[in-house]
Amino acid sequence: MTVASAVPATNAEGFALIADHLSPHKAQAYQAAGIGVVQGRREGIRVWDLEGTEYLNCRSSGGVFNFGHHPAFAVDALVAAVQEHDMGDWLLPSARRAQGAAALARLLPDPLRFAFFTASGAEAVEVACKLARAVTGRRGFVCAEHGYHGHVGFSLAMDDPPLSDPYRPLTPGISRVPFDDLAAAERVVCPETAAVIMETIPATGGYLVPSEGYLPALRRLCDEHGALLILDEVQSGLGRTGRMWAFEHFGVVPDMVITGKGTSAGVYPIAACCFGDRVEEHFARDPFFHPSSFAGSELGARVLEAAVERYEDPALLDHVAAMGRRLSRGLEGLIATHPDRLAGQRGLGLMRALETHSEAQGLELTRQCFAHGLLAIFAFNRQSALQIMPPLVITAEEVDEVLVRLGAAVRAMRVP
Ligand SMILES: Cc1ncc(COP(=O)(O)O)c(C=O)c1O
Repeated sequence: MTVASAVPATNAEGFALIADHLSPHKAQAYQAAGIGVVQGRREGIRVWDLEGTEYLNCRSSGGVFNFGHHPAFAVDALVAAVQEHDMGDWLLPSARRAQGAAALARLLPDPLRFAFFTASGAEAVEVACKLARAVTGRRGFVCAEHGYHGHVGFSLAMDDPPLSDPYRPLTPGISRVPFDDLAAAERVVCPETAAVIMETIPATGGYLVPSEGYLPALRRLCDEHGALLILDEVQSGLGRTGRMWAFEHFGVVPDMVITGKGTSAGVYPIAACCFGDRVEEHFARDPFFHPSSFAGSELGARVLEAAVERYEDPALLDHVAAMGRRLSRGLEGLIATHPDRLAGQRGLGLMRALETHSEAQGLELTRQCFAHGLLAIFAFNRQSALQIMPPLVITAEEVDEVLVRLGAAVRAMRVP
């Protein structure tokens, strides 16, 4: 008989358990990076470690916690759903799933009224890429350097080499171009291109905001060559930038949108690939395309429906825009005070990158953020930049609290 392991009461006990049963090397790596924190209680924008030390979450797991931790509306939706039914069988027709898709369609522009649900963002990217190949009959993809779409199959092959190299050989047919460089895209998009796939604002690349004409020009380039445009809004979508979708800032409508993270409201995994009639045509040939037991769970669909009701409240978008301005003003103040440590900031809404002068400074700022009660981490594909992405529901007082802790972290940086 196995005995349930004791619930760890300290971070050290938590790490010992992690080392015993998840990975000792991972446990060491966290601690070497100055992350001596094991997640404990959490509520709203706050997380406490196992010893009760409090952190403000400026990471939000990339948008999973758009509504903060453990939002009551999502917990209620999930509890009600699980009391009424289970996940449902992926193969059988599901009105619940269709209701979730109908809710999501309310947030999307025409013609994107169909959703294919998945259990993760990376799986939604797989779905999009398979659909693009099937619909166009072509093999090629064009994606952005320093982008991130997940870590499996197609998305792994699109990752920067440090992430993908250990797992070669990768899915062939993928060309990587610098983001926001139209000439580079023009050189590779061709009649063999099934789709151009990019994040509207590359998150792991450090929240790079494209210049105004870039996405419209990419849209035209795709149309000229009969290729599809897929925009990954897993981080930048669902209100994060002060508009429902980041692509709305640039006046384009893609052929497919990938959404995830915030679709879960932090309580149940669900992501989606959304598309219109042109892409849906594929289901005439392969109605049971992409079998996946946990994709399209009816529990996730219920949570998503509840989340959509929150996302479609126009007051939320106004709030995000206002909190984004407040955060941005505060960051400008810090940059002006510490020009030796901070080089600038960029982003839209509550998706802000604080640029240091070097990767070493980015790492040190991350360490100091943890030491000063702030969960904020450098961008993996641009390590000089600290990603600041608090829950969308952060209040003005909480933004100010974040700025106080961030200021203390910057002052404490040991790397000149
Ligand atoms: C932009 C983007 N796309 C896709 C993914 C993959 O999502 P998931 O981790 O749910 O597979 C991520 C994850 O960080 C992401 O940031």
